[in-house]
Amino acid sequence: MHIGILTGGGDCPGLNAVIRAVSLALINECGAKVSGVRQGFLGLIEKRTLDLDRSAVSGILAQGGTILGTHNRCDPFHYFAAGGADVSAQLLAYVAELQLDAVVVIGGDGTMVIAERLSRLGLPVVGVPKTIDNDLPLTERSFGFDSAVAVVAEALDRLATTARSHGRVMIAETMGRYAGWIALEGGIAGAADVILLPELPYEVEAVAEFCRAREPEPGYTLICIAEGAHPKNAEMVVHQTLKDSPDPLRLGGVGAVLAHQLQERLGSEVRSTLLGHVQRGGTPTAFDRILATQFGSYAAQMVKQGRYGRMVALQAGALTDVSLAEVAGGNRRVPLDHPLLQAARGLGLSLGQ
Ligand code: F6P
Repeated sequence: MHIGILTGGGDCPGLNAVIRAVSLALINECGAKVSGVRQGFLGLIEKRTLDLDRSAVSGILAQGGTILGTHNRCDPFHYFAAGGADVSAQLLAYVAELQLDAVVVIGGDGTMVIAERLSRLGLPVVGVPKTIDNDLPLTERSFGFDSAVAVVAEALDRLATTARSHGRVMIAETMGRYAGWIALEGGIAGAADVILLPELPYEVEAVAEFCRAREPEPGYTLICIAEGAHPKNAEMVVHQTLKDSPDPLRLGGVGAVLAHQLQERLGSEVRSTLLGHVQRGGTPTAFDRILATQFGSYAAQMVKQGRYGRMVALQAGALTDVSLAEVAGGNRRVPLDHPLLQAARGLGLSLGQ
């Protein structure tokens, strides 16, 4: 048995833990040869692979990033280096040349869309859900999310002490694209007073009023805002557009915009911190190491059983798998009746309304 593994899209903590788990399970249980594909689908187009034997995956469990490298603009159906040409046949020919029995594809939504299309063309593929955004459909957790939430919580802890000292309004802007999961869980874990999500458009005046009421006592306010959050009747703030990327929009900057809007309305000083890629870097939390290991070992079982065209998923706390066709192109956002939103309101937090 010869299996390929690739990591696609943006990196996140836990990728190496999955690579290790898939490789060791297949080596130990089937005596498989495992090859790593460099830089996502690019490696299958440009023929770049490496051996993933026991020594190659030893000591990588806790390492951030991906030892394989990744690429967030490489779509074989629209290959940027060939003027947008479809090079999927070339990719499949290389898979045949390598005599790969299957490819384990670790990635987020863009990667799963490509994996699903390749699966329809006959590539035996197993998907593993990765993203700090936690926004892939049909799985209640993707690995990497817990690590990002831990970064946000720590950042808020640190911003709280300086907010208190100066009597300021401190804003932390999180990642998460069109979903507010990181801001919601990070904000709750870091004791934010205001949490602003893309799913709940806010009113600047309502946020200002909330902060103003806190100026006498306790004298400071901590705001956690998702990069995709936006006021009612206003668009999301786009930082840049990458034309070759499967999702060309890069969000960012709404925290700074809100700081400016609040500053005009408040006596206290307002500061904004963009947490950015700090949320994606570094070592995975223990939770993510375990989840990634479970996902990887489940993916190896799927390969052994020939259950292809499917993605590993976590549903009601249990491992399962779902069809890539159901996942591809979808997005899982925070439902408006989510218990954490109710808890936040009950605690007197503002959600910007
Ligand atoms: O999807 C993960 C993510 O980190 C988003 O939260 C963020 O909007 C985006 O990727 C940033 O992408 P890039 O690394 O291309 O700037």
